[in-house]
Amino acid sequence: MQLRKHLLKQLSDGEFHSGEALGEALGVTRMAVWKHLKALRETGISFEVVRGKGYRLPAPVELLDEQCILSAVTAETRARLGPVEVLLEVDSTNNRLREQTLKGAPSGAVCVAEQQTAGRGRQGRTWVSPFAENLYLSLLWHSRSGAMALGGLSLVAGLAVLNSLQEFGIHQAGLKWPNDILVNGAKLAGILIDVTGESSGPCAVIIGIGLNVRMSHPASGGIDQSWVDLHSLTGAVDISRNRLAAGVLDKLLPAIELFESHGMRPFMDEWRQHDIVHGCQIELQLPNEVITGKGCGIDPAGALLVETSTGRRRFACGEVSIRVAS
Ligand code: BTN
Repeated sequence: MQLRKHLLKQLSDGEFHSGEALGEALGVTRMAVWKHLKALRETGISFEVVRGKGYRLPAPVELLDEQCILSAVTAETRARLGPVEVLLEVDSTNNRLREQTLKGAPSGAVCVAEQQTAGRGRQGRTWVSPFAENLYLSLLWHSRSGAMALGGLSLVAGLAVLNSLQEFGIHQAGLKWPNDILVNGAKLAGILIDVTGESSGPCAVIIGIGLNVRMSHPASGGIDQSWVDLHSLTGAVDISRNRLAAGVLDKLLPAIELFESHGMRPFMDEWRQHDIVHGCQIELQLPNEVITGKGCGIDPAGALLVETSTGRRRFACGEVSIRVAS
């Protein structure tokens, strides 16, 4: 796998490289280069092969890199971070961190991957995760509070991602409960939280973030909801995924610490400012019923408040859609 990473690094400039030159750079034969490129192609990475010129990726690509991420985070973040693992391919960065948790990974451990073969979204959905196009990042946190107290954490994680995007000039995004990041109704990022451990004692929380950076249209074919990426929002200015990962970690780590010590309360005002559901007529899809009413914000446990025909009700889970006036 390490060799394939080096091979991609060589090709990341988007220029042609002959099999011979690649072999020389990596200390392997041309045949070995060809075999590794074939294996990479089988994982969905496409490149061009032209006789007499060699191999090249369709476009230059900035690969994820542990050192680039570590040098872009603040000193405070660096001190809070555990090991940062950068993978070419994984089923799901959340699954990978769960395995690492069982092996004793500390709080602040991070996994990022160039592509996920079984990326997971909320409500059992698939998170389409093509190679080197987006950010797929998971962070492990050992919480003292217990799973029961974590209701607001996914909202806080959404706020942290939103704040990190503002640093990159993205000010038009909003939050849809519990943690979707949307621009004009199109999804820019989503968060999936996996918790293992006790309901009222120590537990391991894995916060998985998927952020659309520059999604190609062929790859997005499998997405069943309206989406947007940073590339289109910035007017085609590319944002470094390494800097983005660093920016997200810079906002996420202190937010988790504040949440751990003070719960949701310090975040309530900020959440309200970005809540796109507040005051809107909504539908809330529950496992066996659909609730309609007006979104009224959240309570300090992070539950959604809805003004229904039978009064104000709170909901800890469900899928919200905003009703378009007819
Ligand atoms: C959602 O449905 O909105 C949540 C999407 C979460 C996707 C991220 S990508 C990194 C991490 N690994 C996964 O398998 N899922 C999350």
